[in-house]
Amino acid sequence: MYTTETGVPVRAMKPVNETTKAAQQDAILNPRFYTTNFAEIDGLRITPENRKMWDEILAEFRRDPNKDHFKRNAEFDQSFEDMDPALREQFVEFLTSSVTAEFSGCILYAEIKKRIKNPDVRELFGFMSRDEGRHAGFINHTLNDFNVAVDLSFLTKAKKYTYFQPKFIYYATYLSEKIGYARYITIFRNFEKQPDKRFHPIFKWFENWCLDEFRHGEAFAVLMRSNPQFLEGVNKFWIRFFLLAVFCTMYVRDHARKPFFDFMGINVDEYDRSVIKLTNLISRQVFPETIDTDSEAFWELMHQMWLNTDAMRKAEAAGGGLFTKLKVTALKVSNGLTFLRLFLRTPHRQPLPADVRMQPVW
Ligand SMILES: [Fe+2]
Ligand SMILES: [Fe+2]
Repeated sequence: MYTTETGVPVRAMKPVNETTKAAQQDAILNPRFYTTNFAEIDGLRITPENRKMWDEILAEFRRDPNKDHFKRNAEFDQSFEDMDPALREQFVEFLTSSVTAEFSGCILYAEIKKRIKNPDVRELFGFMSRDEGRHAGFINHTLNDFNVAVDLSFLTKAKKYTYFQPKFIYYATYLSEKIGYARYITIFRNFEKQPDKRFHPIFKWFENWCLDEFRHGEAFAVLMRSNPQFLEGVNKFWIRFFLLAVFCTMYVRDHARKPFFDFMGINVDEYDRSVIKLTNLISRQVFPETIDTDSEAFWELMHQMWLNTDAMRKAEAAGGGLFTKLKVTALKVSNGLTFLRLFLRTPHRQPLPADVRMQPVW
C-alpha cells in the first residue's frame, strides 16, 4: 500500500517522470490535495434517527463487496502499442487526472482517520481510504503499462495541500463521490451499448468500481443529515457555490478533452448534461437547495464558461504581449460574471426526504 504520510514537502530524491509532474500541477482545473481542521471533524455525531442507516453502511464497508474486484486478468496483458498516439496521449491524461483524484481521497481520508478519535467517523474514513488506495493503485498499474506510472509517494510529499474548512470538505467530497459515480456508470453504460469503442479493459471494471464511490457518498450524506447545521442558513449559499463549482469544473474540463470523448464514441455535451443532472438529482438526498438543471438558460451560461476558457487557452497559446494579457483578463472577468449569474439563478428547493439513503440504480 502507498504511504499516507502527509509531512512537510521535501525535494525529490530522484528525477520524477512527466506524468508525476503533471499530477503535481495545481492548475485551476486539476485535482488537488486537501488538509483541514481535524479536531472539528472529531465533533461529528450520528443522531439516533440515523443510527440504523449508519450501521448498515458501515456493515457494507466491513463486508467489503469489492475486495476481489480490483484484480487484473489476462486482458491487461495485451500490447497497447498499436494505440493511436493521439488517443494514447488523451488516455494517459485522463488516467493521470483520475489517479490524482483517487489518491487525493486516499490520503485525506487516511489522515482524518489518523487524527481523530470519534470511533464512528474513524472507522468510516479508514474504509474509504482503503477503497481509494485500491482505485488509485489499479489506475496506476495501467499507467505503468504505458511506462508512465505516477510516483504516488513523491506526490504525497511534493504536492501542495489546500486548506479547506471541514464543512467545505463535506460538500466537496460528497459531490466528488457522487459525480464520480455518475461519470463512471455513464461511461460504463456507453460501452455496453457500443462495445467496439471500448479501447481498454479498464472500463469493464467501472460498474462495480462506481458502487464504492456511491457508498462513500452515502456515508457523507448520512453524516451531513446527522449534523444539519451544515445544511442550514448561510451554508445553503456555500452548498450552491460548491454545486456550481463542481459542475463548471467538470463541464469545462470535459469540453477541453472533447477528442478523448470522441474516441469513446461519447457526445461530450450529452455526457455532461446527463452526469450533471444525475449528480444534482442524487444530491437532493442531502441538500435542501440544488440547481435548476431543467432550465436552458443554465446550460447556456455553463457553455459560456467553456467558450471563455477555450478562448483564453487559444490566446495564451498564441503568445504573450500586452494584447494577449488584456484579452485573457477580459475573459477571466467574463467567466467571473458568468459564474455570478449562475449563482444568482433561483435554485430548486425541496424538503429533504425522510429516508436519506438512495440506491445506485442508474
Ligand atoms: Fe475512488
Ligand atoms: Fe470515493
